[in-house]
Amino acid sequence: MSGSDTLRLGVNIDHVATVRNARGGAYPDPLRAARIAEEAGADGITAHLREDRRHISDADIEGLMEVLTVPLNFEMAATDEMQKIALRHRPHAVCIVPEKREERTTEGGLEVAREENRLAHFIAPLREAGSRVSIFIAADKRQIEAANRIGAQVIELHSGAYCDAYSEGRYDEADAELQKMREMSGFAHDLGLEVHVGHGLTYDTVSPVAAFPEVRELNIGHFLIGEAIFLGLAPAIKEMRRLMDEARA
Ligand code: PXP
Repeated sequence: MSGSDTLRLGVNIDHVATVRNARGGAYPDPLRAARIAEEAGADGITAHLREDRRHISDADIEGLMEVLTVPLNFEMAATDEMQKIALRHRPHAVCIVPEKREERTTEGGLEVAREENRLAHFIAPLREAGSRVSIFIAADKRQIEAANRIGAQVIELHSGAYCDAYSEGRYDEADAELQKMREMSGFAHDLGLEVHVGHGLTYDTVSPVAAFPEVRELNIGHFLIGEAIFLGLAPAIKEMRRLMDEARA
């Protein structure tokens, strides 16, 4: 598989840092996880520098920029502080996500439509610095059109609602969410946007999403880091890769 059919796997290493930070100190090392992920076939590494630095730290981002041989997808909120950091490092990709201090994880997509002007000004310098800008949004026409108007090159569709419904046994709802993502992937692709999907994906939920022909990248973290406890990180990633390739074929 090559060229426009390729489905990339971005491995999110945030939760290696979560475990490290539970004790303080240096172990487990997210940079080591990133190198293992690269060797296991990850096409990119994703890391979210949160305002409260609850997992990834500024030093982790610096280290990743130095050691990675695959592209870094730098997830960040649309704040001045994060913009400065992104402009200093110029990562391959920047993914703008909503962020609330009190949330356990990124709970919903970004409200692009309500903040079009501010976000258009916010992402322009990032693009000029050479980063590919992605916007993390719900599978919603209004948000996709707004993301396109502000000049984003990529949208990442939030798969959390689909994955939650599936894991809680609400299969009709899971199917409805899947259908929405399928339609919106096509809609975004027709507008000229590159389409990614992420959040909550597991071995049980990845295949139908990997089969959407318009999707170019999946970003997967929490499940893989959890699975690494049982299988080891490289085998956990290789199994995800296998399922993605199988679904794509
Ligand atoms: N994509 C985005 C934009 C995210 O914010 C996250 C979670 O940080 C992920 C993908 C990965 O989600 P998960 O850790 O649930 O696989």
